[in-house]
Amino acid sequence: MPKITYIDVNGNERTCDVPSGISVMEGAIQNGIEGILAICGGSCACSTCHAYVDERWMDAVGKPDEIEDSTLELAVERRPNSRLTCQIEVSDALDGLVVRVANNDG
Ligand code: FES
Repeated sequence: MPKITYIDVNGNERTCDVPSGISVMEGAIQNGIEGILAICGGSCACSTCHAYVDERWMDAVGKPDEIEDSTLELAVERRPNSRLTCQIEVSDALDGLVVRVANNDG
């Protein structure tokens, strides 16, 4: 099962087994990662699942599509490596992924 490392808003790092086929956001919720609020439930409408993809993983994760890109405009402190984690599907290709949770409460 792919392993995803989440660094939460307080800087705590946790590596979790996350099944392929669910989103990086769902993996965070299942593992109680602090700071991923996911208020819209994963429909790309709220931006409260915002995280920063580790630079080494940006190519593998890819860029946001047009809809995600416009929802990301709502995010606090958007950066070039910003993604909405509900829009990243976990797969074997992302085994080892590292994401840092953004400030989704601000
Ligand atoms: S959960 Fe709302 S945009 Fe991802």
